[in-house]
Amino acid sequence: MQELTVKVPAEKAGEYRIEIGTDILGSVWAKIESQFGSVGKFVITDANVAKAGHLDKLFSGRDIPIYVISPGESSKNMNTLVSIIEAMENAYLARDTVVIALGGGVVGDIAGFAAAVFKRGVKVVQIPTTTLAQADSAIGGKTGVDSSLSKNAFGAFWHPSAVYIDVATLKTLDDRQYRAGLVESVKHALVADEKFFEFLESNLDAILRRQADILEQVAYQNCRIKAQVVEADPTEKNRRRMLNYGHTIGHAIEWGSGFELLHGEAVAIGIIAAGMIEIEMGLGDSKRLERVRKVLGELGVPVKKPANISKSILIDIIRRDKKSINKWPRFVLIDRIGNVHRREGQWAVEVKQDMVEKVLGKL
Ligand SMILES: NC(=O)c1ccc[n+]([C@@H]2O[C@H](COP(=O)([O-])OP(=O)(O)OC[C@H]3O[C@@H](n4cnc5c(N)ncnc54)[C@H](O)[C@@H]3O)[C@@H](O)[C@H]2O)c1
Ligand SMILES: [Zn+2]
Repeated sequence: MQELTVKVPAEKAGEYRIEIGTDILGSVWAKIESQFGSVGKFVITDANVAKAGHLDKLFSGRDIPIYVISPGESSKNMNTLVSIIEAMENAYLARDTVVIALGGGVVGDIAGFAAAVFKRGVKVVQIPTTTLAQADSAIGGKTGVDSSLSKNAFGAFWHPSAVYIDVATLKTLDDRQYRAGLVESVKHALVADEKFFEFLESNLDAILRRQADILEQVAYQNCRIKAQVVEADPTEKNRRRMLNYGHTIGHAIEWGSGFELLHGEAVAIGIIAAGMIEIEMGLGDSKRLERVRKVLGELGVPVKKPANISKSILIDIIRRDKKSINKWPRFVLIDRIGNVHRREGQWAVEVKQDMVEKVLGKL
């Protein structure tokens, strides 16, 4: 069992604890009771997580209102949110409610957003069950739902009051989702911690076998790195942008594939693109890129742009990036493994469009 504390702006929640362990789900309910007392509780999960047995393990036999959403991104919208809020009202819940999110990033994002808006804000406990959610979405306080036009069109920064990571829940996750979510761990290592990168390189077999003690260490390092960045820049004014490494081109590829590629798969290709830009700009060499390509390759995620997504489509999507200034975004680059390249104090830097086009041509 490992523990971390994350500090958040005082006007929000002050700080919260992250607990990481194996097969801890059965003891989490008692901990929630002791932290929050006998206030109203409301659990949000999805049908796959419920079917996999994690819901039963969490609160065997207790009479708690539960909302089970249909699995997948298509549930992360305002219609589901309204149904959740109405179910909370029907359960006579008040402002002292604690929402408990048990699931992947979709459940975490919508449950966090429901908690942010229900009666002007109630507490939320995140219990992430995917590699992506345990590395990324459950920590940091970003919540939201999609509109029919774009992802996370509605949202709020709403920090959890506690996070419980049970790496044993990952045993039931399908292999493709499992591998794709691990790309966020590779990203964390590349931007913040060379030792963590070496740890990933030398423990990939154990990670892919889902060996619990190694997964606990991976979860711990992810949380430590993300917490540090989020504490320094909670609302993404500058430093937090480093977590977008590989994501500018990654998002374009994800979108360009019509979401055929999972987020982590598209980001893996985006990380390779960032490595190629680094070489063009004299910030890296092919030896370093090969090291990164090897880890991602062994994870079994794609490292090449699908041939059916054209360069011009990608450039058009990149120009629409929500972080663009004058229709062109800045890029997060590293100058060595574990260190983001900064220019004039900025964690995301200018890269000319023709250089990005050249790299996309080779990707
Ligand atoms: N808030 C943030 O900071 C942040 C960061 C990154 C991503 N996100 C969001 O996260 C979402 C993606 O999250 P995700 O990749 O976890 O996807 P997801 O929540 O859709 O989960 C992936 C699939 O795995 C299933 N599943 C989840 N846990 C399982 C388990 N233990 N056993 C068996 N099946 C299980 C789900 O039902 C789903 O089918 C996106 O909406 C993205 O926008 C948010
Ligand atoms: Zn991501």
